[in-house]
Amino acid sequence: MGKFLAVVLAAGKGKRTRLPYSKVLLPLCGKPMVAWVVDALAALNPDEIVVVASPDNREKISGALGAKARIALQPEPLGTGHALKCALGESGAASGTLLVACGDAPLLDEEIFRRLLDLHREKKSAATVLTAKLPDPSGYGRIVRSKQGQVLKIVEEKDADAKTKKISEINSGTYCFQLEELAKAIPNLTRNNSQNEYYLTDAVAWFAKNRKKVLPFLIEDYQAALGVNTLKELSEAHDVLNGRLKEKWLAEGVIFTDYDSVQLHHDVAIGAGTTIHPYTILENGTRIGARCSVGPFTRMASSTIGDDCAVQNSVCVSASAGNGCSIGPYAYLRPGTKLDDDVKVGDFVEIKNSTIGHQSKVPHLSYVGDATVGKSVNIGAGVITCNYDGKGKHQTVIEDGAFIGSNTNLVAPVRVGNNAVTGAGAVVKKDVEPGSVVAGVPAKLIRKREVV
Ligand code: UD1
Ligand code: CA
Repeated sequence: MGKFLAVVLAAGKGKRTRLPYSKVLLPLCGKPMVAWVVDALAALNPDEIVVVASPDNREKISGALGAKARIALQPEPLGTGHALKCALGESGAASGTLLVACGDAPLLDEEIFRRLLDLHREKKSAATVLTAKLPDPSGYGRIVRSKQGQVLKIVEEKDADAKTKKISEINSGTYCFQLEELAKAIPNLTRNNSQNEYYLTDAVAWFAKNRKKVLPFLIEDYQAALGVNTLKELSEAHDVLNGRLKEKWLAEGVIFTDYDSVQLHHDVAIGAGTTIHPYTILENGTRIGARCSVGPFTRMASSTIGDDCAVQNSVCVSASAGNGCSIGPYAYLRPGTKLDDDVKVGDFVEIKNSTIGHQSKVPHLSYVGDATVGKSVNIGAGVITCNYDGKGKHQTVIEDGAFIGSNTNLVAPVRVGNNAVTGAGAVVKKDVEPGSVVAGVPAKLIRKREVV
């Protein structure tokens, strides 16, 4: 059958976005646009995926894709035909099947690519063009068909007369080619058009002229053919991908109380029976257990919570929580926060790089940084770990069963022993022995606690 090669064109200037950088790297649901295309193609197991990049975006594309694709350089944006030539020049594959996709068409998924490839192979066509009928085809190349339904040519909007512009069937920019046939067509491409570019679409006309079989593959879901040329189209593409992700989680037993206002990244997992409330954003690396309640107004990034947790009006970044935790409203869990099971973190609490043990509570207005907090600890309102002395960060240890009175300042490095108590407003500068009660500024021993 020969080689199966996939090429993604991504070296264009993206002028219509008006952005000073490459559009194909813009993120959609936490993944660069071009990576959506590459990942969908990778599912087809091609022998190689080549992404055509420009001198400007080459390094960033390579950084975003890593080992998923080989990068070919198009030194100047001389058109899609030239871009493909740059890819093939380095591939060395002379026979086999080529699938060409565009880095700015992120909504075509694995299934559509597979059906395109199957049709192309089954019909033994020289080329197969993925097409769609759009309610508003403006901006796209139009498909001119023969009476028998083959593709005769593709006419770009800018080169189209009034009659051609009325054609609603458009070129998605995605094709399959027989490599040996394409190799003959490419040298015949010229820049004889309104954009002075080598159009890949002209290869199709060359095939038709030379009586090679070119079939359209018309897809029903025309939205999937969307090309992102403007930032409005970027936002449309985002809505489609975000919608697909939410559909997936709906099918897995996740409840959305306000479907439209929730944003999901692609690399997220949500357990069955969990409810996601309005204006909640779940970013990559987030794992949510079963039967949780998340939101409203919550952002979680690279964070994990177990089963039966509640998080509301809060921000969690690289934080984790066990089962049965209650977080917020208005909590900020920063990187390195680790809550054990059944921990309560209440309103206006910030935690960073700290471990909070089983059944401990930090209910109101606290800052806990660089701390290890044991089990069943109660941290009163307004407690602060003074972890920074202007030079370095220091650790606070609060052992099991300790009771930290409201407005206590724990001047780190410091340790509060098992079942110790600090009085309201204490400034604790020295370690507190297990079972002792300290108070004042600086805190002094008041008495020993009776051990129950
Ligand atoms: C192209 C097609 C058009 C089709 C549309 C679908 C041509 C001539 N036209 O038009 O028929 O309806 O896609 O979305 O092919 N690129 C390069 N190097 C270049 C130029 C472009 O790599 O020199 C890349 C771009 O980064 C982009 C893709 O090719 O990912 C398509 O280029 P773009 O300029 O967006 O083409 P369209 O005008 O959309
Ligand atoms: Ca385009």
